[in-house]
Amino acid sequence: MPLKLTVIGTGYLGATHAAAMAELGFEVLGLDIDPRKIEMLSRGKVPMYEPGLEDLLARHVAGMEGASGRLRFTTSWEEVAEFGDVHFVCVNTPQKHGEYACDMSYVDSAFSLLAPHLRRPALVVGKSTVPVGSATRLAALLRELAPAGADAELAWNPEFLREGFAVKDTLRPDRIVVGVSSEHAETVLREVYAGPLGEGTPFVVTDYPTAELVKTAANAFLATKISFINAMAEVSEAAGGDVAKLAEAIGHDDRIGHKFLRAGIGFGGGCLPKDIRAFMARAGELGADQALTFLREVDSINMRRRTHMVELARDAVGGSFLGRRIGVLGASFKPDSDDVRDSPALNVAGQIHLQGGQVTVYDPKGMENAKRLFPTLGYAPTAVDAVRGAEVVLHLTEWREFRELDPAALAEVAARRHILDGRNALDPALWRKAGWTYRAMGRPSA
Ligand SMILES: NC(=O)c1ccc[n+]([C@@H]2O[C@H](COP(=O)([O-])OP(=O)(O)OC[C@H]3O[C@@H](n4cnc5c(N)ncnc54)[C@H](O)[C@@H]3O)[C@@H](O)[C@H]2O)c1
Repeated sequence: MPLKLTVIGTGYLGATHAAAMAELGFEVLGLDIDPRKIEMLSRGKVPMYEPGLEDLLARHVAGMEGASGRLRFTTSWEEVAEFGDVHFVCVNTPQKHGEYACDMSYVDSAFSLLAPHLRRPALVVGKSTVPVGSATRLAALLRELAPAGADAELAWNPEFLREGFAVKDTLRPDRIVVGVSSEHAETVLREVYAGPLGEGTPFVVTDYPTAELVKTAANAFLATKISFINAMAEVSEAAGGDVAKLAEAIGHDDRIGHKFLRAGIGFGGGCLPKDIRAFMARAGELGADQALTFLREVDSINMRRRTHMVELARDAVGGSFLGRRIGVLGASFKPDSDDVRDSPALNVAGQIHLQGGQVTVYDPKGMENAKRLFPTLGYAPTAVDAVRGAEVVLHLTEWREFRELDPAALAEVAARRHILDGRNALDPALWRKAGWTYRAMGRPSA
């Protein structure tokens, strides 16, 4: 009998995982505590924007015309426990209010709600990003609460998908990491991932703590790489250099590489910032805080970038935002996503607004989420409308749509032709040709 899978928590990670597992041929049942999400997903609608995900749902959600019917959604824990051989836990693990540590209450609650219904052998697979040590604790909780006892086993399988590429990253991951405590768990996970494994995806089998650490270490490395180039941008600013050229030059060394070396307003989103903070907090609890003090600097370089962008904008409008109109291109934390959690773009827009600027934001997909989070900012239905009447325009999320804008057309509607490129992604020559003053981060002379 083919394995039956469930996915608990159907947000960015879980909804994608559920649809991808159905695509791989499994029967899948998704559960969330948010009935609105379950209602939408059951109609094949994605509660967020993720390229390709709606198509995948349409191919599999039960009841949709021409669909395989392998994918269903529910809010019933009993149904999930009865249905699944393997339960993927994909709930959120945000930063705790007022401290760096990870808020494990959603994970703990998912385990406490699922376990008492587990009457038959099952593998529970954690995918959420958690502090190292959590899996050992949760394995014991599972044994204690599940009527199936030791037959309710735990594995940890961290997720590396990137929003904007989530479907591809789930169907064809660059590696699969599983932390297991038995050969049986490994065998089950090899069966679940037989598709990608057959295509050559590396499979790394390890213990619980290493699996948990792989995820936080990967994010810490990526955050460090971004902050490294942003630190170089700060020095380039001071020295009159060009960080984009610098990045190009050092990137030719394949030990360094070109990826994640674009200076700008830095990283944000629902993962990197909270993950490096939770990593520092956990290392502190383990007595290894010195090992990660550098991450404090990585975090602070990153946060400084946002303030620096605000300063560049303030200078551009003559030293004060009061009564000045600012056009902002971008709200989501990265392109091809509507996710505005800890978005550098919205943070910058919000700071300018609080300093008296009249900010108008446009984003191709993040508008609804942005309005919910920052209802007091101005919003425009198109990029041209956001630029209309602006004395300075800020490019803060590197959507393709913004790279394809016609600077000459925007020049017609802007009050002043001043563009600040917070992502080093626009073509300076093109903008200058249309009469704009172009200024990018870390490239005072570019
Ligand atoms: N978003 C990403 O790109 C990404 C990538 C890799 C790892 N992760 C990790 O995956 C986890 C989930 O992230 P996300 O971005 O999908 O979050 P999300 O907030 O989009 O989704 C989490 C979902 O879990 C649901 N939920 C909360 N408590 C629940 C419970 N007790 N039972 C059932 N459902 C519950 C919420 O209603 C929500 O729909 C986090 O640990 C995150 O760090 C996310």
